[in-house]
Amino acid sequence: MCGIVAYLGDAEACPIILKGLRRLEYRGYDSAGVALLNGKLDVYKRKGKVQDLEDVLKDKNLHAHIGMGHTRWATHGEPNDVNAHPHFSSDSKLAIIHNGIIENYAVLKQELINKGHQFKSDTDSEVLIHFIEYIQKDNNCDLEEAVRLALTQVVGAYAIVVMSQDKPDQLIAARKGSPLVIGVAKNGQEFLLASDATPIIEYTNQVVYLNDFEIAVMKKGSLSIKNTEDMPMTPYIQQLDIELESIEKNGFEHFMLKEIFEQPNSVRDSMRGRLVASQNHVVLGGIQKHLDYLLNAKRLIIVACGTSWHAGLVAEYIIEELARIPVEVEYASEFRYRNPIINKNEVVLAISQSGETADTLAALELAKSKGAIIFGVCNVVGSSIARVTHEGAYTHAGPEIGVASTKAFTAQVTVLSLMALMIARKRGTITLEEYSNLVQDLDAIPNKIAEALKLNDKIKKLAEIYKDARNFLYLGRGYNFPVALEGALKLKEISYIHAEGYPAAEMKHGPIALIDEEMPVVVIATRDSSYDKVVSNIQEVKARKGQVIAVVTKGDTLIPKMVDHVIEIPATNECLMPLLSVIPLQLLAYHVAVLRGCNVDQPRNLAKSVTVE
Ligand code: G6P
Repeated sequence: MCGIVAYLGDAEACPIILKGLRRLEYRGYDSAGVALLNGKLDVYKRKGKVQDLEDVLKDKNLHAHIGMGHTRWATHGEPNDVNAHPHFSSDSKLAIIHNGIIENYAVLKQELINKGHQFKSDTDSEVLIHFIEYIQKDNNCDLEEAVRLALTQVVGAYAIVVMSQDKPDQLIAARKGSPLVIGVAKNGQEFLLASDATPIIEYTNQVVYLNDFEIAVMKKGSLSIKNTEDMPMTPYIQQLDIELESIEKNGFEHFMLKEIFEQPNSVRDSMRGRLVASQNHVVLGGIQKHLDYLLNAKRLIIVACGTSWHAGLVAEYIIEELARIPVEVEYASEFRYRNPIINKNEVVLAISQSGETADTLAALELAKSKGAIIFGVCNVVGSSIARVTHEGAYTHAGPEIGVASTKAFTAQVTVLSLMALMIARKRGTITLEEYSNLVQDLDAIPNKIAEALKLNDKIKKLAEIYKDARNFLYLGRGYNFPVALEGALKLKEISYIHAEGYPAAEMKHGPIALIDEEMPVVVIATRDSSYDKVVSNIQEVKARKGQVIAVVTKGDTLIPKMVDHVIEIPATNECLMPLLSVIPLQLLAYHVAVLRGCNVDQPRNLAKSVTVE
C-alpha cells in the first residue's frame, strides 16, 4: 500500500517520477503528490489518481534533477489534498513520503504540539517529518543522524524518503517492514528509488534491496547505507530480471485481462525446469536444503491472505491427498495474534504474490521465533517474505499489476502442486503410476488453460445477462470449493456485487434461504469424485428457481439439461482442476465489472500490496 518513487541524477526528475507513480498506482490511488527541488523545495499534491496530479502539473514549467513522488492508500486521515504526501516539516525545508503506519504517532504528535508544532494534516507521516526536524534542531546534528535518531523512537512500519532544501544533492531513505528498492544507474551517477522494481527497470537492472532498519543516503556518485544502530552496511547490488514489456498492457484494455490471458505462459514459467515430463521428473531447486523438514513434517501450517489463502486451501487438499501430511491453512492476520501452537516437526509455509503482505510476514516471523522452519511461495523476487524464509520457491508468474490477482493464483497452485508431487513421491505415498499420470496431466495444463480462454466471448455474453444482479452465489466441492471462494472474491473485488463462495453441500445450512429467481448461482460441477453430490446440489438450487451457471467438464450431457447456462472446460485430474475451473470465473468477474463501468485494475478501497496490518 502506497507507492514511493524518488529520483536523483542529471535528467528531468518530474516526468520520471510521474511515470514511476503510474507504474505503482496499483499500490494505492487515493491521492498522489510530488516534491521537486530546484533551489526551493516545492510540493504539488492532489486527491485522486496520478492523472489528477498530472492535470495540475501540466501547465507548470517544472525543472528539477532531484525529487520524489507518492501514491497513497489512506490509513490515517481521509483521502484529500491535505493528507496527500509529500508532507513538509514546520519550516517547509524538509519533506517526506511514507509508506506504512507510525503506530505511536499520537504520542509523538502530542509531544510536538506541546513544543509548539502545528500540523496541517491528519497523517502519521507529517508527524514523522516534524519529529525528524525537531530532533535535528534539538541535537544540532546532520539530517541523516536526525532521521536515524527519530527512527529509533518510532514504533510501526515505514518506507520513507526524506529531502531537504538545505541538501539539494541528497536523498535519504529508510525502511522497516515496507519495501524499498534502490536502482543504481549510470555508474552511480543516477539513483531511482521505489516501492518495487517496476519504475526502475526502464533505467537500470542494478538494484539494492534495502533491509529493515537500514538507512540509505544517495548523492551523485555515492550510495552509503547504515543501520539504525549506526553500523555501516555494505550495499549489495543485485541484477534485476524483469522485462519492460511484462509491466505494460501490450494492447489489452486492462492489466487484469492481459494477466488472465498470460496464464498459459505464466503457468508454463512456473513449471519451467521443475517439471520434466519426458523424464517423469519433478524438482523444486529452492527447496532442497530443508527438504527433510517437509518430508518428515507432522503438520504443515500454511499462512496467507486473500487470493493466496485460497491457493493455500487448494494446497491443503492436494498435499493431504497426495503426500498424506496434515495441512492447516490459516489467515495470517489471525494466526499472528493467537499464540498458535507449533510443535517440533511442524513446518510453516507462507504463500504471497507480493512477498510483502504485512500480516503474512509477521505470521512467518512469529513462527520462526517459535523455532519453526519456514518456507515461502512468492512471486516477487527479493521480496521480504522471500528473504525471511529458510527456503522457498518463486512462482515466476512475472509482475502482476491488476489489483485482482489472477495469474499469481494459478502460478501458486502450480508450484504447490509440484511441491505436493515431489513430497508425495519421496514419501512414497503415491504409486509411480499415479505420479507419472499427474506429471503428464500437469504438463498438459498450459494448453488446457489456453483452450479454456477461448470461452472469453461466451462469458462476455453471460456477463451481459447478469451484470445487474445484486448478489451471486458460487458453489463448489472438494478441490473446487476454494475455486468457488476465489470466484466470489474476484467478482466482489472488482464489480462491487455482493458474492459468496460456499461448499456446495453447506448451502443448505443457510445460503439456500437467499435463493430465488433473481439469484445467479455459479456451480463448479466438473467430473470428479463429488460430481453426483454436486448434481444434487444443482437440483436443490433449481427447485428454488435459482439461475444456475454451471462450469462442467467438456462432454457432460447430464448437467446441461438441468441448468440455465453451461461453461465447458477441458478434463484433467481432479486435483489439478482448480487451474482450469478458475479461468471462466476470472473472465466472468472481469466482464461483469467492465460492463458495470468499474475500474477493474484499480478497484475502490483496495490495494495490491497490503503492507499495513
Ligand atoms: C491484497 C490483494 C489481493 C491479494 C492479497 C494477498 O488484498 O488485493 O489480491 O490476494 O492482498 O497478497 P499477497 O501479495 O500476500 O499474495
